[in-house]
Amino acid sequence: DPAELARRCRALIRDIPDFPKPGIVFRDITPLLGSGPVFGEVVDALAAICRRAGWRPDAVVCPEARGFLFGAPLAYRLGVGLVPVRKPDKLPHETRRIEYQLEYGSDAVEIHADALTPGRSVVLVDDLIATGGTLGACATLLTEHGVEVLGALCLVELDGLGGRGRLAPVPLHSIVHYP
Ligand code: PRP
Ligand code: ADE
Repeated sequence: DPAELARRCRALIRDIPDFPKPGIVFRDITPLLGSGPVFGEVVDALAAICRRAGWRPDAVVCPEARGFLFGAPLAYRLGVGLVPVRKPDKLPHETRRIEYQLEYGSDAVEIHADALTPGRSVVLVDDLIATGGTLGACATLLTEHGVEVLGALCLVELDGLGGRGRLAPVPLHSIVHYP
């Protein structure tokens, strides 16, 4: 039951006011990660969303660092590979880079240029979507390269920051919503 799972998740996500900057309410998922049963149910629910949506990705793409926490078990669950999106100068081979805005700053992300060939299809996954800068940048990086982004998955969506709109037309499914 999605509403029951959302309740169980919400009970394990802490609000940290003014982190990492004044005015930001940080939604801390570490208590949820620390719960074996709930973490497992979240990964199962993400896989079930893919199945129900009819998405059959060739790979899961996820951004550093918190995206890896959900991308890795989801890829394993779906039986497909994982393609990491990383902060600049972390990936050793030839990369493609894109700059983007964050809720509390700006950054850039990179992907290995040869990680996905044009025509492949992927699902994006991250722990949380705020402004949509990170996932939007990932989607742009992929689609510009001819990779089909079937959809995006998040544990947490901050509805008020318009991330869903920034990601459009890529469909987004989130498990827990905050205003
Ligand atoms: C956080 C979070 C998302 C992103 C969401 O990552 O894990 O990736 O911000 O914000 P957005 O929708 O406005 O882009 P952060 O860049 O803080 O890095 P981390 O995962 O390495 O902590
Ligand atoms: N990433 C961007 N905004 C965030 C927030 N409010 N809480 C946790 N992670 C975030």
